[in-house]
Amino acid sequence: MGFFKLSQAFFSTAMLAFLLYVFLRLLFSCWILPIRAYRKIKKNGFGGPTPSFPMGNIREMKNTSSKININYSSLGSSVISHDIHSTVFPYFARWQKSHGKVFIYWLGTEPFLYIAEPEFLRKMSSGVLGKSWGKSNVFKHDRKPMFGSGLVMVEGDDWVRHRHVITPAFSPPNLKAMARLMVEPAAKMLERWATLINSGKPEIDVEREITTMAGEIIARTGFGLSYQNGSKVYEKLRAMQITLFNSNRYVGVPFSKWICPKKTLEAKKLGREIDQLLLSIIDNRRKSWDGSPQIDLLGFLMEGNRVDGRVGKSLTAREIVDECKTFFFAGHETTALALTWTLLLLAMHPDWQSQLREEIRQVIGDEEIDYTSLAGLKKMGWVMNEVLRLYSPAPNAQRQAREDIKVDNLVIPNGTNMWIDVVAMHHDPAIWGDDVNEFRPERFKDDHLYGGCKHKMGFLPFGFGGRMCIGRNLTMMEYKVVLTLMLTRFSFSLSSSYRHSPSILLSLRPRYGLPLIVQPL
Ligand code: HEM
Repeated sequence: MGFFKLSQAFFSTAMLAFLLYVFLRLLFSCWILPIRAYRKIKKNGFGGPTPSFPMGNIREMKNTSSKININYSSLGSSVISHDIHSTVFPYFARWQKSHGKVFIYWLGTEPFLYIAEPEFLRKMSSGVLGKSWGKSNVFKHDRKPMFGSGLVMVEGDDWVRHRHVITPAFSPPNLKAMARLMVEPAAKMLERWATLINSGKPEIDVEREITTMAGEIIARTGFGLSYQNGSKVYEKLRAMQITLFNSNRYVGVPFSKWICPKKTLEAKKLGREIDQLLLSIIDNRRKSWDGSPQIDLLGFLMEGNRVDGRVGKSLTAREIVDECKTFFFAGHETTALALTWTLLLLAMHPDWQSQLREEIRQVIGDEEIDYTSLAGLKKMGWVMNEVLRLYSPAPNAQRQAREDIKVDNLVIPNGTNMWIDVVAMHHDPAIWGDDVNEFRPERFKDDHLYGGCKHKMGFLPFGFGGRMCIGRNLTMMEYKVVLTLMLTRFSFSLSSSYRHSPSILLSLRPRYGLPLIVQPL
């Protein structure tokens, strides 16, 4: 009996000690650490909106956004302004007025350094190598089902290894082979449009059409798959995107995953289902592989990096799955959006449609589209840059300091998250001039890289430094191939049902799609 009592007392004490330990740990990570970080950042001279515990500034962000959404959804189709910063990031536009272009805001108990000042960004990033940048832990964790430890999220020596394995997939000979594979899905889409027009339906939601086509292109060029085989992965990725980014979530708030447990579990379930689909695609490729060199992305991922014919750096099975997810998603969504926004702007500027058609006639003529001839489409390159400036599909970049970073007399403490507001910089009259919100592709005529921007870090459609987009050459090629095919067959004008409402769902997209009136030439 005595022994029983003794062991009961021991058990209760151990339990109490454990609960106390958990409580102290929580207090430390959710309360003491954030307060310490807040004081350190303040001491370093950074201002910003006052946070509250445990939400940080999230409540204010949500309130400002919902006011804008109410106003915006009542706007008619005739109001199309390219001055979109205060619509897509209303809280940042508001805070900029009182705190300038560099300040601290808080997502829950996580401090974020907001940056919309190119010179600050230049100084901050000049001493940091690609492999030394961190990606915000809080997002890494939140977006795990979507990107896992794929190239977008991975850091340090692992990032170097992944990048080495993947880079050769985007070499010029490979891109050339991919250009040929792009024509068929695009031609198939245009045939579908011709059929719709013939049956008296000239109004087409080109956003949906182009997204499907871009999905088919990456399925073929990246994974050697037909759209039918790739489409299951897309459907689930799309569902995951909506689950993760289109709901009331509280990233950075302690225990936030338990605030919306349904969404968290749904994302995890979708993540597992996508993993299974990808594993079976990889397995099929392994079984059918006869040992010959592989030229698509999946082939490179599976083979690893070869040095003198021997495998040098390679990826684990888990890493291959995460890279497949990353490329399935990043490889079609952004390019599709670049093309979609282009059609909106060309529909508003028929003179630019004519100029591009004339250029296509001169450069390509009646020949088949060839990788090498695409470089001659200069004006198309200006249009692409101008579209990426006004409607950047990747509206921000994120980082996390992995050491203290000095910028003049300020110190960004190790662990600080950073949010680089690309939309703000692309729409800043101080670096672009008073015509910043006008569609003027000719600004890239004499300065094709920076479009006359006063600061080289002011135009960042593909990111910056060592972590710049690995798919940018593929995108430029796809953009030119598809736009050439579209413009040689059809003309585009705005439909009266179009409602201009750029919104963020990880990427920058038209909230209500893009219905256009499409007519054969
Ligand atoms: C218009 C099209 C595209 C845009 C605007 C775009 C934009 C970007 C941006 C801004 C980054 C840097 C993100 C950061 O700094 O955190 C990035 C990185 C990346 N992009 Fe793209 N991208 C496009 C197309 C593509 C395509 C077609 C692919 C794949 C086939 C791709 C794959 C990636 C990957 C894997 C990274 C991570 C690179 C790294 O961290 O080393 N992107 N992209």
